[in-house]
This record gives sequence, structure tokens and C-alpha cells, in this order.
Amino acid sequence: MPEPRQTRDIHQVASRLSKGGLAAIPTETVYGLAALATNDQAVDAVFVLKGRPSSNPLIVHLPDSSHVSDWAASVPPEAKRLMREFWPGPLTLVLPAHESVSRRITAGQSTVALRVPSHPVCAELLRTLGAALVAPSANRSNRISPTCEAHVALQFSGEDLLILEGGPCEVGLESTIVAVLPDQPPAILRPGVLTREQLGLRESPAFTSAKGEPVTVPGQHHRHYAPDSPAFWADEVALKQLGDRAEVAWIFCGDPRPVRGPSKDLGAEPGAYAQHLYATLYEMDALNPSEIRVIPPPRCEDWEAIHNRLSRLIRAG
Ligand code: TXA
Ligand code: MG
Repeated sequence: MPEPRQTRDIHQVASRLSKGGLAAIPTETVYGLAALATNDQAVDAVFVLKGRPSSNPLIVHLPDSSHVSDWAASVPPEAKRLMREFWPGPLTLVLPAHESVSRRITAGQSTVALRVPSHPVCAELLRTLGAALVAPSANRSNRISPTCEAHVALQFSGEDLLILEGGPCEVGLESTIVAVLPDQPPAILRPGVLTREQLGLRESPAFTSAKGEPVTVPGQHHRHYAPDSPAFWADEVALKQLGDRAEVAWIFCGDPRPVRGPSKDLGAEPGAYAQHLYATLYEMDALNPSEIRVIPPPRCEDWEAIHNRLSRLIRAG
């Protein structure tokens, strides 16, 4: 059976991609499953390998902002400001799509999502190619985004997939997505580690399109990130009732408690918590616990993206 293979050879990966093949690539947020954005067959292969519905559009990754005019029909002034301040980096902009953009990428929407990653290996790959890559997170649909090579390999075991080595991802959560459409106030469609405050979007109202319809982020509609083991919130009662069970795993947010099962303290600082959250869930899944219990982090803006992701993987009850 074929297995994913890791490589440091950027030219080998660039060559495979430029021939219409796929490769997993590091970014500063999470690993991506990349294909040449101008090759419809390669883009289709990404949907197939991920098991992703064709109604869920992909983000286009660019070498630098000079490529934006090939993909966006127009770039509102507020988008230019965000590009200047936050690219390269963990920010995706949803802009009006250029008419030449494949509908496979946009899932038939009139907008396109663009980002310029800052990860040095990814940046060098994009420079080498001189072309754009689509790259959804490198996980099977509805699974947790991988933040290191080993977790990409786990997702695609049995596949002949080349993984470009870039080490553990620094950010650890997917990019912040902001829609900036003409004559509309910018709107945050997916929270990320760049907060509303940092982006200078504190005043943005809730977003509606020109026709009054909400702009959709198709991938955000569903429960999206599931570990194999069921995950639940933990409170004092759970700690008391389950703390001595060896088969229950725990994720603490600072203030760790003595428990019998596997546990990890991700700390009380949101940046480090975000960086290690997904890897911790993969590591706990590998231990096959009966359940994972998560101590709720604080409810404030710095933790918004973490709460957004946790709310997708934690079950009620
Ligand atoms: O950090 C990231 O953004 C990672 C790395 C690999 O770049 N990529 C990533 O891609 O998270 P993906 O496909 O797993 O999530 C992209 C999200 C999906 O929820 C999708 O629905 C949304 O972006 N999206 C893509 N194009 C869009 C568009 N034109 N309008 C609204 N949402 C869009
Ligand atoms: Mg994803």
C-alpha cells in the first residue's frame, strides 16, 4: 500500500504540483492540501482526496499581493489596507472574483478567498512556482486540521501523498477570514488569531451582502472538526466524578488538576493554547480515551477563535 512521504525538497514538490499533482504543504496556520489553482483537474482531485463537497469553496494562496489582480475583480481600499498590514500572514480576504476564476474554486459564488502565507517554506515554494495554489486544510473532510507532518500522514495513510516538511505550525488555527466587498463594511466570516481589534475592525457591523443576504462561508455551517473520541466540556462536577477514571483524557487551560487519565495543560495564554490545541487532540485520540474533557477557556475576544473551534468539536451533554 502506498504511504505519504515527507520531503524537504521544495523543487520536487514544485515539480509535482506544476504537473497537476497534489502535495501537502506547511503554512503558518495549519498544513494545506495543495494543487495548482489554474489546473481544474488538480483542483477536482483535492475535493476528491479530502472527501469535500463541491459546494465548499477553496482558499487561493498567492506568492505575493501583486498576484491579487489575477484573481479579484476589484480590491476595495479597506482590503488594500488589510493586505498591506497583514500579508504575508494568517489573514484570508474574500473579494469579488475575477471572471477568469474557476467556479470549482469558488463553488459558484461570485467571490474568491485569497491569502499570502508567511511560512518561509511555503513562501519559497510559491515563489519557486510563481503561481497560485489552492490549499484547504490537509485533513479529510470533518476531521481536525493537522499542524505537523505526522498528523497530515495520519489523515492520508494509504495515499501516495508528498508532504513538504515545515515543522510544527506556529499559529495552529486556520486563518481569520474577512470579506471586503465593494460598498460593504468588512466582515469577519471566520475568527482567527488576528482579532477584530488587531485588524482595526472593531466597528464592523454584522455582515449582509448588497441584496441583504448573509455572505456564506459554506465550511462554517457544520460541525467541522471532530476527534475520534467524543469531546465534552468539563466542570467541577465532571472533575469530581471522572477525575479518577484512567480512560478519560483532560485538556486544562492553566490551573491543571490531579487526574488519573492522560492530561495536558495548554496554559492560560491564547497564542500558545491555539498553537498546541489541534496537535493535542491528535495525540489524545491516539491514546483512544473513552472521552476527552475540555476545561472551558475564558470568554473574551482573545479566545474567540479558540471557542469557535472548540464549539465545533465539543458535544452537548
Ligand atoms: O489557514 C487557513 O486558511 C488554511 C491554510 C491551509 O491556508 N486553509 C483552510 O482552508 O483553512 P479550508 O478549506 O479548510 O477552509 C477555508 C474556509 C472554508 O470554510 C470555506 O467555506 C471558506 O474558507 N471559503 C472559501 N472561499 C470562500 C468564499 N469565496 N466566500 C466565503 N467563504 C469561503
Ligand atoms: Mg478546513
